[in-house]
Amino acid sequence: EKVVLAYSGGLDTTAVIPWLKETFNYDVICCCIDCGQGEELDGLEERAKMSGASKLYIENIVDEFCEDYIMPCVQAGAVYENKYLLGTAMARPGIAKKLVEIARKENAVAICHGATGKGNDQIRFELGITALAPDLKIIAPWRMTDLWTMQSREDEIEYCKQHGIDLPFDAKHSYSRDRNLWHISHEGLELEDPSLAPNYDDLLVLSVTPEKAPDQPEDVTMTFEKGIPKSLNGKEMKLSEIITELNSLGGKHGIGIIDIVENRVVGMKSRGVYETPGGTILMEAHQQLEELVLDRATHEVKKNLANKLAQVVYEGKWFTPLREAIQAFVTSTQEYVTGEVKFKLYKGNIIKAGTTSPYSLYSESLASFTTGDLYDHHDADGFINLFGLPLKVRAMKLMEEKHN
Ligand code: ARG
Ligand code: SIN
Repeated sequence: EKVVLAYSGGLDTTAVIPWLKETFNYDVICCCIDCGQGEELDGLEERAKMSGASKLYIENIVDEFCEDYIMPCVQAGAVYENKYLLGTAMARPGIAKKLVEIARKENAVAICHGATGKGNDQIRFELGITALAPDLKIIAPWRMTDLWTMQSREDEIEYCKQHGIDLPFDAKHSYSRDRNLWHISHEGLELEDPSLAPNYDDLLVLSVTPEKAPDQPEDVTMTFEKGIPKSLNGKEMKLSEIITELNSLGGKHGIGIIDIVENRVVGMKSRGVYETPGGTILMEAHQQLEELVLDRATHEVKKNLANKLAQVVYEGKWFTPLREAIQAFVTSTQEYVTGEVKFKLYKGNIIKAGTTSPYSLYSESLASFTTGDLYDHHDADGFINLFGLPLKVRAMKLMEEKHN
């Protein structure tokens, strides 16, 4: 029988290969899913095979990741607990989908992942797989504590050695990281103590801190059509190219570094640092345009739904009717999110430098202080009377009670 293993090439998932064979006698099909982690994928096949896998798939889903997962979250403005741009959370459903696809193609009976039993990722992988393939068995070695006895990187290296796998794995404890085109997350080491400042010099991968950013600001122009970015600094590019370019611009100017204590689904608080340089710019630019074209009431409902979507995505409930319904609402709000946004990047800041849209609802004559035809100041008299009526009634009532 075959099992499909979500394989990264790292020590954890490499040790899983001989373990799956030894423990369950499975034929192991490795699947490395590229969401833009920017790692060298050469040599991965050799590593997987040498560890006992019978096959390695390398699947690039970067464009799908951008179009089907990143953009709906950007358009919604989904941010978890006011800070986290969901980089890991929004990649998991796409990975789950690919794993299921390969499992079907290979006629596998199970899917195995290397997420720990304390985190969010196990939930996201498993809800994704269950929603798409309820019949497939899921194997989470880290939770099978009577069968998976390795406790540390040293144990894993030793286990690999015993199984004839001698690879240059590093035993030193390092940050727990997850990288893709949208972001990189860092957890572990000094970050586990929230009283300590992050060791940014060792930590940062995509960006520099604002104090190390250039002293000169940099101008950026973006255009959007129906809520989708189309060009950057005058050049039309596809989404993944725009995000890549924004990552290097944002990284250079120290944009999008956050330090957060977040609430995991499984109940504990966890401290992490995220770098989302391009994503932070893209979200901000999109919002800047929406300010101009969305009416107040729609914007208000959208904001509430953004919060809900962030939670849904964080919790791994991508393949659900609620996510689909929220996305349908959001898509409908994007009809007029077309135009041009300009800003400057400067030491961790995104500074507005002008927004235009053919669908702008902003009327200069209406907003300016000079009088015009459309707005009669006298109309405001009656409006304020009615708008304040409930306050007035209550105030009168209170006065009456005081006198009695
Ligand atoms: N805490 C973040 C989240 O829940 C990041 C998880 C990173 N995952 C990892 N395998 N290192 O989305
Ligand atoms: C893990 O536990 O595998 C990483 C952290 C998380 O999933 O939240």
